Amino acid sequence: MDIASRPAEPEQNLQTADAAPAPQAPPVIRREDYLPPAWLVPEIALDFALGLDATTVVSKLSVRRNPDGNGTPTLRLNGDQLAPVAVHVDGEAVNDWRMDGPDLLIELAGEAHEVSVETALVPSGNSQLMGLYASNGMLCTQCEAEGFRRITFFPDRPDVLSTYSVRMAGDRAVFPILLANGNCTAQGESEDGTHWAEWHDPWPKPSYLFALVAGELIANHATFTTMSGRKVDLNVWVRPGDEGRTQHAVDSLIASMKWDEETFGREYDLDLFNIVAVSDFNMGAMENKGLNVFNTRYVLADPDTATDADYDAVEGVIGHEYFHNWSGNRITCRDWFQLSLKEGFTVLRDQLFSADMGSEPVKRIEDVRILRIAQFPEDSGPLAHPIRPDSYQEISNFYTATVYNKGAEVIRMMRTMAGEERFRKGTDLYFERHDGTAATCEDFVTAIEDGAGLDLSQFRLWYSQAGTPQVSVALQQEGARLVLTLRQAVPTTPGQPEKQPMPIPLRVALFDRATGTHGGETLIVLTKAEDRFVFENAPADPVLSINRGFSAPVAIEMLRPDADLVFLAAHDDDPFARYEAMQSLVVQHLVAAVGGGLDEGARAQGREAIGAAFGAIVTDPALDDLMRGELMLLPAESYLAEQLLVSDPGAIHAEREGLKAWLGKALAADLEALHDRVSAVPYGREAAARGARKVKTQALVYIAAGNPAEGARRGLAQYQGAQSMTDRQGALMVLASLDCPEREEALADFLARYEGNALVIDKWFSLQAGSLHPRVLAHIKTLSAHPEFRMSNPNRVRALYMAAAMNPVAFHDPGGEGYRMIGDLIRRLDPINPQTAARFVPSLGRWRRVEPQRAALMRAELERIAAEANLSRDVREQVTKSLG
Ligand code: PHE
Ligand code: ZN
Repeated sequence: MDIASRPAEPEQNLQTADAAPAPQAPPVIRREDYLPPAWLVPEIALDFALGLDATTVVSKLSVRRNPDGNGTPTLRLNGDQLAPVAVHVDGEAVNDWRMDGPDLLIELAGEAHEVSVETALVPSGNSQLMGLYASNGMLCTQCEAEGFRRITFFPDRPDVLSTYSVRMAGDRAVFPILLANGNCTAQGESEDGTHWAEWHDPWPKPSYLFALVAGELIANHATFTTMSGRKVDLNVWVRPGDEGRTQHAVDSLIASMKWDEETFGREYDLDLFNIVAVSDFNMGAMENKGLNVFNTRYVLADPDTATDADYDAVEGVIGHEYFHNWSGNRITCRDWFQLSLKEGFTVLRDQLFSADMGSEPVKRIEDVRILRIAQFPEDSGPLAHPIRPDSYQEISNFYTATVYNKGAEVIRMMRTMAGEERFRKGTDLYFERHDGTAATCEDFVTAIEDGAGLDLSQFRLWYSQAGTPQVSVALQQEGARLVLTLRQAVPTTPGQPEKQPMPIPLRVALFDRATGTHGGETLIVLTKAEDRFVFENAPADPVLSINRGFSAPVAIEMLRPDADLVFLAAHDDDPFARYEAMQSLVVQHLVAAVGGGLDEGARAQGREAIGAAFGAIVTDPALDDLMRGELMLLPAESYLAEQLLVSDPGAIHAEREGLKAWLGKALAADLEALHDRVSAVPYGREAAARGARKVKTQALVYIAAGNPAEGARRGLAQYQGAQSMTDRQGALMVLASLDCPEREEALADFLARYEGNALVIDKWFSLQAGSLHPRVLAHIKTLSAHPEFRMSNPNRVRALYMAAAMNPVAFHDPGGEGYRMIGDLIRRLDPINPQTAARFVPSLGRWRRVEPQRAALMRAELERIAAEANLSRDVREQVTKSLG
């Protein structure tokens, strides 16, 4: 039987050695308790006898007492659901070892020993997808953060660096390709149909970067010559049949390698770089040294199956994982509290890379949109944490938008304050000073401080304080001088009642209303709770453009006349600021309308103002279409909810939809002309054609909102005439929200057309689960029983249920059916894949910010989960914090 079609629940998990029930309150790990390891492991040799249902592992550790450790004779080797089959010390079998919960403890007298442990694994029963597991007939590993301890006993912490030698043997027919980190040093065949390979990675690394892959794979091969003239072999490995969709990944890898040399002076350091795509993966991808393992969705792309956004995501994630080779692998984290050291910095690096590959302003707008949708709610909710957390129960819960995206924003602020050149001096110093070590966020800040010549003493608060700072702005004329008064407040977050003011760098310009220009941008840094900034030669009654380029990850609070926002939306020379003005115009209007602050006349007036600005965007011939597509997006409902202390999701949705329909009607002729114009542009990968495709679906969205019949007609035509997945998916998205025969026709066609293509079938699920169709909840229920739905595959689970949890109509159903659906999912998924289950908790955790009736239903759902007896540590932590 094909692994992928096995029943979701593993009948029995032979890895379960200790059957003790999970404790109700998992222990809290604290950053302040860090101690250096007592024992080091300079070398490790691993020997795998591979099988999908049974794999044995013999690991030989050369252990050495750490001179900086506490001198204990006890060697603690972490395990997770492992039982030692045999233990040897210096070649002798021993049995005076003992277990301490999941860990193996061995008493060692001297300074250095060779310790060998054998373990037995059941990869096909590993549904958590951590450690060694089977996916789609192959074997692969995932070790970050604490998966290595599910393979063998080891001091599984990132400050223990070892040189790895790996030997693996297995059935040649099942595992024709055998891969691990570093270089292949030997391989051979045995008479019994098995073969073997040996791999050696010369670079010492922590256990979380170990990887092994075995299975039937085909490579798209290329080479890259580094700046010092070394030739590197590159392979993107996929399952047979997928090789035709790998060229974009190969191109992205080559572009990443070149870019990191040019931009950060970083050269690749092995002769081989392998990427493997696997279909069952908890996250996006993993930066294992020399052997990146990727979710297929960030590797496979061709025009027929991947949207332009998918292409960008592949490029961004390939870059991200490649850049980790320096920011993460050569310099790794001392402990998991330092996660943002590698993730924040690497996200910034991938953002800068993607900006250089495409449109810088459009990329900046996208990044800010993600921050606002994903990170701002985190920062204002029960799970808020600083980018360098102080404590955790389960580290997997801290791979968050805060650690990743806010972490990137914090480093971007340093770059803004230093300027590009001095920032580069800082990163050069960081790479030089800490190469080969496990470092801390403090080390990073100090290196930037020393290298770039900045004083970051107060700036360090960005690492320790959670919460999005609120900056209120007032502009006053005092005689000939213009005074800008700024006030900051950092909100209270769990465990942090008191906050100190932080340095907030704001790029500012003052526009002359008459000329539509400004006399130059200035960078001001607000360091106090309140401060005044004086401008001597400002134009009279200027229009303020502030936080240009989103120079600081803060919320600007300033009620502005519509006219000022319309002015900036039309005239600001900073494209981000133009977008921001348009967003503020809509946010101000919708927040006032939802709050009941607008009578019919005022609502009509607000819509007219928005309609005028929006109409200009739709028709402006000077705008490129990629940018037009950004400017046409209405602020997300979750971002609108952020603006209110307590929100009514139903009211927000109704008001936002109302505006969409009004714009669709008021601008019908312009929108249809736009849709016609871009529909005539033939398929191409160049920016102009991509822009055309972006506004095509945008225009369709508004047309359908204003006139569903016309939307259905144009939607089906766009679907049928589509030359690419971008157009096809866009049309299907619009049709999926309409109650019309064209909807059923297109959905059925799509399913039949892409049968067997898992990534596209994911789209089919998520488009329906994300639709605004009045019967969407019934659709989701039907889809959960569809033969193509599988609880064991994270991509499929997310396609259906993450789309549902993000869908305001489905999730916030007034009767609570949506909350119940997500609650049921969490309880069902937790025993199978706790990491993925825990990712659904935050949506329910927002209850305090929702109107009382829904809040009670959300809370009740969390309580129902909390009442489960054997919750994972992952879900337990998130649910407890969300209720607490
Ligand atoms: N380190 C990976 C990245 O961001 C993410 C990841 C974490 C993947 C944990 C798998 C498990 O590049
Ligand atoms: Zn990363």
